[in-house]
Amino acid sequence: MEIIQDPKTLQQQLIELKRQGKTIGFVPTMGNLHAGHLSLIDIARARADIVVSSIFVNPMQFGENEDLDSYPRTLEADSQKLAARGTDFLFTPTEQQIYPRGKAFHTSVEVNRLTEKLCGASRPGHFRGVTTVVNILFNIVQPEVAVFGKKDYQQFQVIKAMVNDLQIPVKIIGGEIVRETNGLAMSSRNGYLSSNELEQASQLRKAIKTAGEQIQQRQSMTAVIQQAKNFLADKGFKVDYFEVVRQADLEPAQTGDTELLIAAAAWLGKPRLIDNLEVKIRE
Ligand code: PAJ
Repeated sequence: MEIIQDPKTLQQQLIELKRQGKTIGFVPTMGNLHAGHLSLIDIARARADIVVSSIFVNPMQFGENEDLDSYPRTLEADSQKLAARGTDFLFTPTEQQIYPRGKAFHTSVEVNRLTEKLCGASRPGHFRGVTTVVNILFNIVQPEVAVFGKKDYQQFQVIKAMVNDLQIPVKIIGGEIVRETNGLAMSSRNGYLSSNELEQASQLRKAIKTAGEQIQQRQSMTAVIQQAKNFLADKGFKVDYFEVVRQADLEPAQTGDTELLIAAAAWLGKPRLIDNLEVKIRE
């Protein structure tokens, strides 16, 4: 695996490979890699000749009071994991290389409406940071295929909307959520949890699964949601949102909708955990 920090150097090498007829699969990350990230590398491998991953802790997507400074940076271990998984190129740009004029002056890309709900409501500016950096990364790497985890379901839909709206020639693939044995969705931020909290954290998944079953049984959505919120509060979570929405546009689900998403975010101690479940209602 080749590690490249300079955007132009990476871009030129990849353009040359594309000229030779190779296809590029891309997996952007912020590092501190776990099995969830690595599953995306496997998906990219299966769909492209060359696999490129990036590690960049993107300051533009962190809010004022968020964990930019303490976000875990583990480049050495990450690059070993990526190399062992068959990644061809690891791109590790600096902030100066991504935002040379400073992030406040930089051009930004914003997907409207879709970014206002769920995580967007409690993290203003977050998705603008995500779409801006992903756009920059796409322009450098120019992949045919890019893989995003469905753990960040809203991010996955926002990226798909951006690619459609701006007619960017890349296919976006969603990777399934990879979980710990207790059901907790893997996350770089799980490291902030104490061992007790790690056990407790599995209750988020449990609440979502129970809600999924109740919705399949056609129970009232309002009641299901309220029950789940009460359950989580009882287990020590501070619930940010617990919603049942339509998968495609993340609008609140209505009777008759069949492709639903149960999405939740809740604080447990320091970290804010997110999880979701796709639910198909049988007609
Ligand atoms: P990061 O949180 O590092 O996640 C990188 C990718 O890994 C994202 O597509 C995310 O959805 C996926 N991922 C994380 N945990 C996962 C899990 N348990 N199972 C499956 N996939 C998982 O998401 C970002 O970085 C950034 O916003 C980024 C897209 C890199 C832009 O800065």
